[in-house]
Order: sequence, then structure tokens, then C-alpha cells
Amino acid sequence: MAIIAPSLLSADFLNLQKDCDMINTSQADWLHLDVMDGSFVPNISFGFPVIERVCKATTKVCDVHLMILEPGKYAEAFQKAGANILTVHIEACPHLHRNLQQIKSLGMKAGVALNPHTPVSLLADIIQDIDLVCLMSVNPGFGGQQFIPRTLDKIRALKQMIIDSGSSTLIEIDGGVTLDNAGAILQAGADVLVAGNTVFRSADPVATIAALKKL
Ligand code: DX5
Ligand code: ZN
Repeated sequence: MAIIAPSLLSADFLNLQKDCDMINTSQADWLHLDVMDGSFVPNISFGFPVIERVCKATTKVCDVHLMILEPGKYAEAFQKAGANILTVHIEACPHLHRNLQQIKSLGMKAGVALNPHTPVSLLADIIQDIDLVCLMSVNPGFGGQQFIPRTLDKIRALKQMIIDSGSSTLIEIDGGVTLDNAGAILQAGADVLVAGNTVFRSADPVATIAALKKL
């Protein structure tokens, strides 16, 4: 069964308590939090005060996706704010192995995100050190974009690499996930579905989460 991770980016920022309560009563497994710095990606989202409050308000696993340069500078602060999983972008980390060790030493699960143009083969020598690979299926920075179909091939290739290495790394798909394409994404080998607009713009978010969970 898939792990469902609604993305807070599409929530109502004037009513975060309400949206956290909705997530808590739903079948969602994780809450996905997108941190953007305006440099690594052309957008700025939210920071520590919001993350700290939201992680306290939710009973779900806090899955923090860092779209920022120099994530190592802030790993400890994200751990203190309540992150359970901390994902850094491979494109922002010239010393990825060091970043992953730091995240794990702080007691969090370590994730690596790949932009759409970044080949999964770059992970061949580090896959065993990664708890979660987040494949971006849109260009990071904004919610509500269209899923890039090529991602399906990347999922299959990554799944094979994980099996061959004997590791238990999870594959997370982030961007443009809908009720229409989620089945194919899971069939290709994904374990975690991030969903922003699909959940929060639907008439009944709890039912939409349940529908994703059922696939
Ligand atoms: C994009 C973010 C995503 C975003 C997904 O940069 O990493 O997590 O919230 O939103 P949807 O599901 O609307 O594409
Ligand atoms: Zn994300």
C-alpha cells in the first residue's frame, strides 16, 4: 500500500490548524513540507516558525523537502523544528555523503531529491546510504504543475537499482500526482505519493486521500 504525503504548500495558510486537523483525521501517512529559499528554486515558501508549529499540530510523520542551497547549515534547526525525514537536493550538495551522515546523526531519516533532468544513475554509489529518494516529477518551486511522463522510466530504473543493491530505500514522487496518474506511478515502483493540489483543491480532501490510499 502506498504512503500518502499531502503537501502543505497547497494548504490554506490562514487556516493551518484546520488543514492539520483534516490531515490528522485522514488516512495520510506523512505530511510533506516544502522549504524554498529563492536561490535554489525561483520561489520562497515558509521557514522554521511555521514548520515548528505545524509539526507540533500534526500526528503524522513530518517529511521536510529542502529546496535550498547549503542544507547542511540548517539540518540541526530542522531537526529541532520537528522534521522526521529531511530531504536534500543532489544538485545542491557537492558532498552528499557528508550531508546524509549529518542528517542521520541527528536522528532523522535521510532523503535525496533529484530534479527532472538529473539521472538516477548518479545515485549508484550512494543508494545504500539513502532512506528515501524523492524524484521530482515537475520542476521544483511551485505546486499545481503537470506531471513529466519521463519520470515513469526513472522510477523503473531506480527501483531496479534499489533491488540490485539490496537496500530498503523508498521512492517518493513529487509533483503533478493526480488520481488519474497515481496508479501508473505506483505500478512503476513508487512507494510514496506527494500530493498538493490533488488533495487540497478537491471538494473532499479526506476522501481524496482515501482514494489515493486505495490504489
Ligand atoms: C514542488 C513541491 C511539491 C508540490 C507538489 O516544488 O516540491 O511538493 O507541493 O504540488 P502538486 O502536487 O500540486 O504538484
Ligand atoms: Zn516537495
